[in-house]
Amino acid sequence: MNKSGKTIVIIGAQWGDEGKGKITDYLATAYDYVVRYQGGNNAGHTVVVDGEVHKLHLLPSGVLYPQKRIVIGNGVVIDPAVLIDEMKQFEKKGRKLNLLISERAHVIFPFQVMLDKAIDAFKGKLGAGTTGRGIGPCYSDKADRSGIRMIDLLNPRTFKEKFELLFSKKTLALTQLYKQQCDLDKGTVMRQYQGYARKLKPYVGDVSLELNQALGRGKNIMFEGAQGVMLDLDHGAYPHTTSSNTIAGSVCTGAGIGPTRINEILGVVKAYLSRVGAGPLPTEDTGAIGNYLRERGKEYGTTTGRPRRCGWVDLVQLRYACRINGFTSLAITKIDVLDGLKTIPIAVGYRYKGGVINEFPTDLGVVEQCKPVYKELKGWPDYTPGQLSAMVHGGYPSLPKTMKEYLKFIADATQTPISLISLGQEREAVIEVL
Ligand code: GDP
Ligand code: IMO
Ligand code: MG
Repeated sequence: MNKSGKTIVIIGAQWGDEGKGKITDYLATAYDYVVRYQGGNNAGHTVVVDGEVHKLHLLPSGVLYPQKRIVIGNGVVIDPAVLIDEMKQFEKKGRKLNLLISERAHVIFPFQVMLDKAIDAFKGKLGAGTTGRGIGPCYSDKADRSGIRMIDLLNPRTFKEKFELLFSKKTLALTQLYKQQCDLDKGTVMRQYQGYARKLKPYVGDVSLELNQALGRGKNIMFEGAQGVMLDLDHGAYPHTTSSNTIAGSVCTGAGIGPTRINEILGVVKAYLSRVGAGPLPTEDTGAIGNYLRERGKEYGTTTGRPRRCGWVDLVQLRYACRINGFTSLAITKIDVLDGLKTIPIAVGYRYKGGVINEFPTDLGVVEQCKPVYKELKGWPDYTPGQLSAMVHGGYPSLPKTMKEYLKFIADATQTPISLISLGQEREAVIEVL
């Protein structure tokens, strides 16, 4: 075998929005490729560089480094209108994107977006509060083999044939089953997508082939996860999940890489907790402190602008995330948001029917009745931006003792070392724990 490049997978270890984009951007300097392998534009990854805020939905966060190859793998579902729009934002600045899009990635259509909203509303309490981006219907069509892939979009004959089928199937469901009005014109949508195909064609290729060849040439690859572990279709809080696998194993199916090629798996953990959408959330604080965390942490969805539900780190959930993903280390983000709190609760177990549960229950009916058992850890003072940047320069030893105790408590409880600590939105605001 040739020399092999190294790989790392960046995974959201909670309910999404942990700061994956920021950590991906920070670490990307050491990698030649940054690859998205699941999800779609339900993701919203915010990266702040030199005061400029970048909100990315489909393009991997490595796009902020002009020389890097950025890749959208087969496991991603692509809304071409959104992708082209995102590409334009960079092209406007004179950038030529070094982008590869998998020919096997499935395409999202407007009728899937309409259905997403109709189905989630129809489900009532069992809905997930989706982002309404057509993600679920697109993955359903992929699974029942009526989906349309990028390669199909590029071939006019195949596209026409498959589009006719998908269009009838979906518009029938919309109008007959979900009783929605649908004034989409078949010919107009088809022509619109033929236009997208012309724009995207130069970027479409064989992702698995290129990535494996690149590894063989010693190139380093970073895989950027979207969503979070608890939103995983199989291992998350089903049915309040997304429609893809969000855990590390998904890299193999979503990019065409063998499991033996994965070297590191970094779990990104917010120093507290947030969640957008429906479903039980044991450590949620619906009172004043939850509001405080939301405002201080600017916890409003990057994609939908919805207020995020906020609460405390949940070690039952986090240990579960470590088990399912096999994290080699953790990155703790937004620790600065906790500055100034006298004490910080952290859930160490769940009280349920007079006993204590230590493993995350599969039955959400049980989760709903669980009350967290909290350990109160000591907080630290409210630091000025200047003091925080002095800490960044001073590294781990310069952190306050109680912050180090909080971090050590998480590392001990999860039996996973912490490799990175993020203390602010900016790219540089990270401490590497050596
Ligand atoms: P992602 O979906 O996991 O990439 O996370 P989002 O971008 O949706 O949400 C994380 C938010 O927190 C973004 O606005 C980031 O800019 C911000 N952020 C990331 N790390 C830090 C940090 O250490 N401190 C603060 N204050 N903000 C951070
Ligand atoms: P990033 O990558 C947080 C949530 C939605 C909803 C459920 C299903 O920014 O962390 P979907 O539209 O995927 O069918 O919605 O999943 N959700 C996210 N929550 N961050 C995300 O992405 C999310 N992507 C989907 O709120 O509850
Ligand atoms: Mg996000």
